[in-house]
Amino acid sequence: METAEERATFIRAHTVLATVPFVPEIRLLTATDVTPLWRATHTFLGEHGLEVPFWCVPWAGGQALARWVLDHPEAVRGLRVVDFGAGSGLVAIACALAGASSVRAVDIDPLALEACLLNAGANGVALDATCADVVGAEASTLDADILFAGDVWYERAPAARFEAWLRSVVRSGVRVITGDPCRAYVPDGLHELDRYDIPTCADLEATALRLTRVLEVLTRAPRS
Ligand SMILES: C[S@@+](CC[C@H](N)C(=O)[O-])C[C@H]1O[C@@H](n2cnc3c(N)ncnc32)[C@H](O)[C@@H]1O
Repeated sequence: METAEERATFIRAHTVLATVPFVPEIRLLTATDVTPLWRATHTFLGEHGLEVPFWCVPWAGGQALARWVLDHPEAVRGLRVVDFGAGSGLVAIACALAGASSVRAVDIDPLALEACLLNAGANGVALDATCADVVGAEASTLDADILFAGDVWYERAPAARFEAWLRSVVRSGVRVITGDPCRAYVPDGLHELDRYDIPTCADLEATALRLTRVLEVLTRAPRS
């Protein structure tokens, strides 16, 4: 899948436009049966080195952030937003609907960014999409006032990188808010803004509802 057109065709062939359970204001191209899509993408993964399809469902962390943004539009209105680890683009779309002055979806997976653009169009908003690993980048290069990171604390080594970088981004004056359904590697000492019970995809999560917190990243980790 070299071209954007090929990626868009693949996404459309394996998804339907469906309402996000906890954010009914937004519809996303969603896998109706995750397993065949996962298998299809893994076939491509072997052949083309693609990422697993995180973009095909709204994860609990993203749903919590999108809900929080739509219920607190003043948090993003008129601001420049980055949605880090955007996946489907759910949080980015919520920020655009809430009146952000610009929204950039960032992910390392080209399929995710194509999904972000298709989903943005389906919801009548515009986004920028950047395919890059920006972890470690100077905060000034993000062109952001606020950064959201939905459901990114599920693997040890990446989580450690994300935490160090996101705390440095906060020290540079950018507000950073993450949505987390109690994943294994969520940092300690984040400031809780809200919490929800989020309906989840039964094929991917152990429970039908996951307690998910909206957490603000502070400049320093707590002393242990
Ligand atoms: C579990 S998904 C969450 C997607 C979305 N935020 C949501 O909550 O629905 C995590 C996403 O982080 C992306 N990701 C992983 N490492 C990344 C990195 N270094 N930079 C940007 N995105 C990354 C993955 O490709 C994936 O799309």
